[in-house]
Amino acid sequence: MSLDAYLEPGSQPQVDLDADLQAKLDTLVQRLQQARQDYGEGLTFANSLGAEDALLTGVLASHQPEIEHFVLDTGRLPEETLTLLDQVRRRWPQLTLKVYYPQSQELQAFVEKEGVNAFYLSQELRKACCGVRKLEPLKRALQGKTAWITGLRREQSVTRDQLEYSQWDEGNGLQKLSPLYDWSEGEVWQAIRGLKLPYNRLHDQGYPSIGCAPCTRAVAAGDDPRSGRWWWENPETRECGLHQR
Ligand code: ADX
Ligand code: SF4
Repeated sequence: MSLDAYLEPGSQPQVDLDADLQAKLDTLVQRLQQARQDYGEGLTFANSLGAEDALLTGVLASHQPEIEHFVLDTGRLPEETLTLLDQVRRRWPQLTLKVYYPQSQELQAFVEKEGVNAFYLSQELRKACCGVRKLEPLKRALQGKTAWITGLRREQSVTRDQLEYSQWDEGNGLQKLSPLYDWSEGEVWQAIRGLKLPYNRLHDQGYPSIGCAPCTRAVAAGDDPRSGRWWWENPETRECGLHQR
């Protein structure tokens, strides 16, 4: 695989990729190629525009641009995430980026009944907000699909440590592929920087993991990377329902 495939014309890589990382990238490309062969147009990529997905986006743009991406725009995403979405669109016009929004009537009814920031009041209301803003749109994004690619990694949390590369997603009724399941956070960042891929600027401001703005905060260096997500809840419940254990 040539590095040039990832770069703007004339630009140079910032750092050399070491042999181990290059081997991991080659395996990643093989996984994505195989996935496309296995599932064809039934395959879609859930792109949150976080660090893992920035890496997958660059690799897909170079090697499998025909795999469609979808973004769940909850209406509460940080500005930096939306900026990256536009950057990706401009840089790689060959990609198909679909954006799914919450159903406006369902959202309006929820906000009118519970308030605009109801997620802070109870776990039940937090899950209800994720239901309207993320899970219902996810259902539409996955309709008619047979497999989805995610940027999940085992290391990310106690809720993800049993993750397999490919596993049946009971809740959504299709196969779930997590081609970065065995990558470390450090390797993801080495690859992003080495390949000069665009990434969410919040990552430079203490946000290792990024979701909706009101439910994500910066963490101190060395803290659990997901401790800034739904920080008022305990670690075992910090999932929005997109990914069931
Ligand atoms: S979350 O469930 O806690 O929000 P996280 O932010 O770690 O998930 O992202 C894990 C993976 O879920 C991402 O790599 C991506 O595949 C998918 N995902 C999460 N949020 C979105 C989103 N808004 N749009 C599309 N995919 C998403
Ligand atoms: Fe709502 Fe927060 Fe869930 Fe976003 S992460 S859908 S704002 S509860």
